[in-house]
Amino acid sequence: MRAVMVRRYGPPEVFELQQLPDPQPKPGEVLIRVKAIGVNFADLLQRMGIYPETPKPPFIPGLEVAGVVDKAAEAGAEENSESLRPGDAVVAQTNFNAYAEWVAVPAASVSRLPAGMGFTDGAAIPVNYLTAYEAIVTMGNMQPGHRILIHGAAGGVGTAAVQIARAKGLFVFGTAGPAKQEYLRKIGVQHAIDYEKADFAEVIGKYAPGGVEMVMDPIGGKSWRKSYECLAPTGRLVTYGFSAVAGPDGKMSRIRAAKALMQTPKFNPLDLMKKGAAVIGVNLRQARLRGDRLRSAMNEIFRLYAAGKIKPIISKTFPLEQAAAAHQFVQERKNMGKVVLTVK
Ligand SMILES: NC(=O)c1ccc[n+]([C@@H]2O[C@H](COP(=O)([O-])OP(=O)(O)OC[C@H]3O[C@@H](n4cnc5c(N)ncnc54)[C@H](OP(=O)(O)O)[C@@H]3O)[C@@H](O)[C@H]2O)c1
Repeated sequence: MRAVMVRRYGPPEVFELQQLPDPQPKPGEVLIRVKAIGVNFADLLQRMGIYPETPKPPFIPGLEVAGVVDKAAEAGAEENSESLRPGDAVVAQTNFNAYAEWVAVPAASVSRLPAGMGFTDGAAIPVNYLTAYEAIVTMGNMQPGHRILIHGAAGGVGTAAVQIARAKGLFVFGTAGPAKQEYLRKIGVQHAIDYEKADFAEVIGKYAPGGVEMVMDPIGGKSWRKSYECLAPTGRLVTYGFSAVAGPDGKMSRIRAAKALMQTPKFNPLDLMKKGAAVIGVNLRQARLRGDRLRSAMNEIFRLYAAGKIKPIISKTFPLEQAAAAHQFVQERKNMGKVVLTVK
């Protein structure tokens, strides 16, 4: 099969398209012929070697695919798995190894695509929508009428979070760069904030005096402190990314990472109690360890899709062999919505 490999940690040019042996599914695994691959910010961090548990190069990056089942696992071989047949259109979460024509994944990580959903939309769903759902619904317990501030609202997780928040009846504030303000309004952000023009904490102070019930903040560093200050009593700060460590050059900089770490607030349980607030760390890798939690979330996400309440917005597709260009595009912050790689 053809696969895109990281030959050494670094900028997008480190990708190399290679011919490799097809994967052989182990017991309990499903073999999938890949049609589309979701590109995540995490893939950029994998390429740079700063994503947790990134193997030493050479390795195949990526976390999610949509495709067709070639070989199904034995029925019931895996707990929390659907019974699948060859030819079924599916979406799957992978632990690396997604940028390839074939993947073998545990059956528990595979879901049949709902009727009417294409491979490109399918590949855009798992990481972004499960992260947003875990934050807003499962861990956040947000209720209709609550207010949420979503940072990076024009991105992959951001767009998914806006859609889920609106589907759940929340009022949405969203931040993004200046070129993305119109997009924010189009996807349903009720109060768009251009972080270059305005201080988001001041905007919240003015338009949600007393604070908001949730802030979703994947930026990290000093942003977490300011986001925490935007919380209303009983509010939740959701930390789920640390984009501040990645620079525009696509390289990891120790200086930038050290600065962001130094600016990271230390939350004291006594202060949290006094404020009546929660700091929630969302991590899909951990959520996956909790039985059928993500499968239930995925089923609910598919129900919202069928009801027309959510729909992935595809910013741009690139053929698999142009994975470097796809990374460059995300790195330059050009994506509004999701970037997907397609496989012929
Ligand atoms: N914990 C988890 O399980 C989990 C799961 C999925 C994603 N994440 C995290 O969530 C975040 C968003 O992921 P995504 O895949 O949806 O990416 P994305 O939002 O589609 O792309 C990144 C966007 O982040 C914004 N950004 C802000 N500061 C940045 C910086 N210093 N460097 C680069 N971009 C910056 C940019 O938007 P503007 O131009 O508007 O600033 C950029 O377009 C990432 O931090 C990712 O690691 C975590």
